[in-house]
Amino acid sequence: MSKSLTFLGIESSCDDTAAAVVRLGSDGRGVVLSSEVEGQSSLHAAFGGVVPEIAARAHAERLDHCVERALAAAGVSLADLDAVAVTAGPGLIGGVLSGVMLARGIAAATGLPLLGVNHLAGHALTPRLTDGLAFPYLMLLVSGGHCQFLIVHGPDRFQRLGGTIDDAPGEAFDKVAKLLALPQPGGPYVEAEAAKGDPKRFPLPRPLLDRPGCDMSFSGLKTAVLRTRDAVIAEKGGITVQDRADLSASFQAAVAAVLAEKTRRALEVYLAENPAVPVLAVAGGVAANSVLRAALETVCDRLGVTFTAPPLRLCTDNAAMIAWAGIERHLMGAEPGSDLTARPRWPLDGSAAPMIGSGKKGAKA
Ligand code: KG4
Ligand code: ZN
Repeated sequence: MSKSLTFLGIESSCDDTAAAVVRLGSDGRGVVLSSEVEGQSSLHAAFGGVVPEIAARAHAERLDHCVERALAAAGVSLADLDAVAVTAGPGLIGGVLSGVMLARGIAAATGLPLLGVNHLAGHALTPRLTDGLAFPYLMLLVSGGHCQFLIVHGPDRFQRLGGTIDDAPGEAFDKVAKLLALPQPGGPYVEAEAAKGDPKRFPLPRPLLDRPGCDMSFSGLKTAVLRTRDAVIAEKGGITVQDRADLSASFQAAVAAVLAEKTRRALEVYLAENPAVPVLAVAGGVAANSVLRAALETVCDRLGVTFTAPPLRLCTDNAAMIAWAGIERHLMGAEPGSDLTARPRWPLDGSAAPMIGSGKKGAKA
């Protein structure tokens, strides 16, 4: 293989069909030559969640075109690549299989080495692609499908400190948006409503703050929003624009309070390892929320920890992170052909307690 590695990444584990070309730069960071992401929101909109069969079919139909576009946008051909990396899990199994089959086809036709990548490792290693972050750093992954704290010790070494035991925060934002007749995906709309509301008006629960550790729960919070909304409707015969803004703000404040306190606890565990340059990195679509970010930044400031978040397009699902995780795995000596079994569940930290339940976007880990 040449010194300057160029990898094709393929991602299809949920509702984004994605392909990207990433090159290892001379400074050790990644250069994203292209990153194509084709969402499927419109295909699932009528069903109130991602329908696995529809997702798998759409991935199978679109993936090869997506790869073609990624190669063209990067100005490279298959012959210029050093390897292919593909998400092999965790996720909706039909979609994962679509990606793995395509990647196997490309590898068979070209002779390129092929590496399976854990989707969560892709998210967790993104701050190294974008900022060249040194190990170990603490990662908070907060998206529509995931919520967990990980100490990232190495490309293949993750320590899970805790995570949600039911819904992910993005799921809760989406469900609350639905309850308040706001469009999907609901996070940005709830945030916009909340900006006009009073976060103290409705005293909503702060789930699991009374229990030690870093596990979280957001499903009961969504139910509390439903009850509060229904109580307002019963009292007044409907909810006003201001009621909706206040309820959004109260909900967002509860999520921020839980994430801030659990982050503080996760940082305590991480700091006990005396990292040379302590860093908290966040990833996932929910990391776009400015109130949540501010809450996390405050916690970091107090503890002398640097806060960082990759640009949003690399924070949400994409294939550049998969190509990069493939490069990292290659550099640590992973065998070509390894980890190619498509898996619905694939925890990053095999020693951590298994996650229970599965959300609208598939298994939690
Ligand atoms: O990482 P992501 O793009 O996709 C997956 O989870 O697969 O995250 C999407 C989630 C959605 O649930 C969306 O409502 C949420 O991120 N989100 C937000 C905001 N922007 C996106 N949640 C809260 N506030 C936001 N500003
Ligand atoms: Zn993801």
